Amino acid sequence: MKYLIANWKSNKNSQEVEIWFSQMKKKFTENPAIKIDRLEIIICPPYPYLPQAAKLISKYQLPLKLGAQDVSPFPAGSYTGAVTTKMIAEYAAYTIIGHSERRKYFKEDETQLSAKVIMAKDEGLIPVYCIANKQNQIPEEVTIVAYEPVEAIGTGTAETPEKASEMAMAIKQNKDIKSVLYGGSVKPVNVNQYLKANGVDGVLVGGASLEAATFWEMIVNASSV
Ligand code: PGA
Repeated sequence: MKYLIANWKSNKNSQEVEIWFSQMKKKFTENPAIKIDRLEIIICPPYPYLPQAAKLISKYQLPLKLGAQDVSPFPAGSYTGAVTTKMIAEYAAYTIIGHSERRKYFKEDETQLSAKVIMAKDEGLIPVYCIANKQNQIPEEVTIVAYEPVEAIGTGTAETPEKASEMAMAIKQNKDIKSVLYGGSVKPVNVNQYLKANGVDGVLVGGASLEAATFWEMIVNASSV
């Protein structure tokens, strides 16, 4: 199983969400022979679009799953602005936790991130836990890790597949970690280099997931690995 995760970050409005899914539907309909049974394709829209995305996936019968980009470390209650795992679990099966942008701009620390993992697990959400380097701790119970070196995110300068592979193997020394994804400037042209790299089980894609046509290209390439 290879993971292809689209992280839309703080992008799109509801009309653009509608267009993205209808374009994806068109691609799947026009290419019925594409083999994606070994791919787990997960779309992570901003929170307000999770219900809309869930409806569109069901309406168009798309082979796509949903994930959130983050979760609250707290349960329901007086936590203004926070979105609980219970709310997310109505729509999504996965959640990203600890993305370097959350750590940098929202000052999330490892205590908070561990609390998020526990909340997610308790609700049956699968955390995709992001680390930027070997110094970042991985909380217990995490089974999917996304390795994303900060210098590679949004820069167009991806880390080499060799280095991604080396890091993936090192992370997998921890026997609880079943899958390691690479993220940072993954594009249709380089996606397969990562998917083929030893120890790498998928990719986390930001910029190249925003246009349906580009993300489709990535799905097509990935389907041949
Ligand atoms: P990028 O972002 O693909 O735009 O580099 C990756 C990420 O931050 O998850």
